[in-house]
Amino acid sequence: MAELIAADKAMDAALALLRAGEVVAIPTETVYGLAGDATNGEAVARIFEAKGRPRFNPLIAHVADMAMAERIGVFDPLSRRLAEKFWPGPLTLVVPLRAGSGIHPLVTAGLDTIALRMPKGFGGTLIARLGRPLAAPSANTSGKISSTSGEAVASDLGGRIPLVVDGGATPVGLESTIVKVEDGKVRLLRPGGVAASEIEAVAGAPLLRGATAGIEAPGMLASHYAPGAVMRLNAGIVGAGEALLGFGPRRAEGWQQARAFLNLSESGDLREAATNLFAHLQALDRSGAGMIAVEPVPSEELGEAINDRLARAAAPRDNPHV
Ligand code: TXA
Ligand code: MG
Repeated sequence: MAELIAADKAMDAALALLRAGEVVAIPTETVYGLAGDATNGEAVARIFEAKGRPRFNPLIAHVADMAMAERIGVFDPLSRRLAEKFWPGPLTLVVPLRAGSGIHPLVTAGLDTIALRMPKGFGGTLIARLGRPLAAPSANTSGKISSTSGEAVASDLGGRIPLVVDGGATPVGLESTIVKVEDGKVRLLRPGGVAASEIEAVAGAPLLRGATAGIEAPGMLASHYAPGAVMRLNAGIVGAGEALLGFGPRRAEGWQQARAFLNLSESGDLREAATNLFAHLQALDRSGAGMIAVEPVPSEELGEAINDRLARAAAPRDNPHV
């Protein structure tokens, strides 16, 4: 079983494991990451192994500073401006991979681009101390909900990894926004912790949306965020025995008969809702209800990412997990 060590005491143990090519679950401001040395193929393979993730999914390489980022990726002026504005923080930039970057090809799944992010807090310090980029997907079994607390990571992956660094609840609560600059325009590949409008304000133009030809963000496969229960979105009425995921001060009809009820944000605050999303889904899933009804969440600002994750959680399961 993984050791669970508080972040303020875990730095040396985490460094020793990463230097030995092991994987470590770490807190970031978005969700917990399952980190390994991005230059060490064996470490990266261990990440895939622990997650049970299909190998064609490329990973985000996390960096400590801009100099490290520029040694790995080739930055056009707009990508650099976005990095300056949002790093460290919940934005991932896909840029061309630099020749001789030292990144193991398993990280990029053979693509000639790389996803880069500079995390805040423990992760950033850890990478600076290690002096190497860390490949880190969300710390959850492939197809399950991302973990936003140390305990959630330990109960999901604890049997397969040596250490979980416990930094408490992650402040943003959902994954980073992923964008890619194409011919001076910004394409949104995955909505996340930075709202599209904030990026548009820097780019000075509306974001392009939808994947281009080819692979882009394959982590966005239909049931990527699936809980065990079936999800029913935009519910205006609650059926007997259903669990209810609420949003805002007004309740769906029949909410009193819900088997379990949690509110993403009583006041209707989308940032608070994002923070609570995965933990509430996990808790309602554990209530044993076969169906989770979800009240409507507005799609503006961070609501776009929240509705994206909810839609994926509700998508038909071609490959149900056990
Ligand atoms: O907030 C986050 O982004 C968290 C924390 C741990 O940093 N990480 C995370 O990683 O969500 P993961 O592996 O669960 O999702 C990364 C996404 C996947 O959808 C993957 O396909 C996409 O990034 N991706 C990685 N490299 C890419 C590339 N070169 N081009 C397009 N998409 C890429
Ligand atoms: Mg993930």
